[in-house]
Amino acid sequence: MNQIQWFPGHMAKAKREAKEKLNLVDLVIELVDARIPESSRNPVIAEIIGNKPSILTLNKADLADPKLTNQWIQYYQEEGQSALAIDAQHQKGLHELKNTCKDLMTDFFAKQKAKGVKPRAIRLMILGIPNVGKSTLINRFVGKNQAQTGNKPGVTKAQRWLKIGKEFELLDTPGILWPKFEDPMTGYHLALTGAIKDQLVEMQELSLQLIRHLQQFYPGLLENYYQLDHYQPEMTPAGILTSLTQTLNLEEDYGQAAERLIFDFRQHKLGSITLDRPNERAF
Ligand code: G4P
Repeated sequence: MNQIQWFPGHMAKAKREAKEKLNLVDLVIELVDARIPESSRNPVIAEIIGNKPSILTLNKADLADPKLTNQWIQYYQEEGQSALAIDAQHQKGLHELKNTCKDLMTDFFAKQKAKGVKPRAIRLMILGIPNVGKSTLINRFVGKNQAQTGNKPGVTKAQRWLKIGKEFELLDTPGILWPKFEDPMTGYHLALTGAIKDQLVEMQELSLQLIRHLQQFYPGLLENYYQLDHYQPEMTPAGILTSLTQTLNLEEDYGQAAERLIFDFRQHKLGSITLDRPNERAF
């Protein structure tokens, strides 16, 4: 697995910019990918957020395994981290997210009121690594196409506040952090979900990781979905890739079969699959 090119200078800049935005807001929505909640969580996030209230928001819940999403939420909540799942693209869970924001700010506003300070809108920002759905969430929150979406981190200029009803003001550009992976498995998970550019990754190697994961945790899925030729339960991941290549009539083009498998996974064709598993973490 090649290292992604995030130079220390870039990291320092991203961190500084995120901290600058943070000074402007009451609360942070930390966005991660529900399929890889830990792998898509930048480890310096806690340092950046400091004592600001934050909600760990597992986006793309429509693509993730619901059972594991619930386990993750429970895990984070037990750690004292406010957490919930949303599907920004289809506007699911946004109401709960807003309510959680309000709950977290209740004490603050009660204290302000006691001091005679008039109530005002809650100021929010969204923070996360590229591709977790930050721009999509901003757009869905505001109801218009005000933020840029796409696979590349949006480049930002002036800060603007977007109004969400009377109760919230949202920074129009998200805080962007870099993905971090010393652990190769984290790198594979980021790459499989498309958080790292495909040019940086060896697709065949990546597909073998996916096959290994699916065989272990979603047995039967691959052979049923693709109706694999000559399938045997004891096949190695390489054997399955070979069988898939034959099944798809790709001669010996294993690379193309690998790409197809990864594409199908990303497109949700293989079903709702989570790669990070809470019970595999070193607690
Ligand atoms: P970013 O700002 O954090 O970099 O992410 P962005 O909003 O650009 O979203 C990255 C991709 O993830 C987009 O797809 C977006 O549609 C998709 N996405 C965001 N939220 C959700 C979600 O809750 N569920 C699902 N299934 N997808 C989500 P894309 O590949 O750029 O293509 P397109 O669909 O936007 O054309």
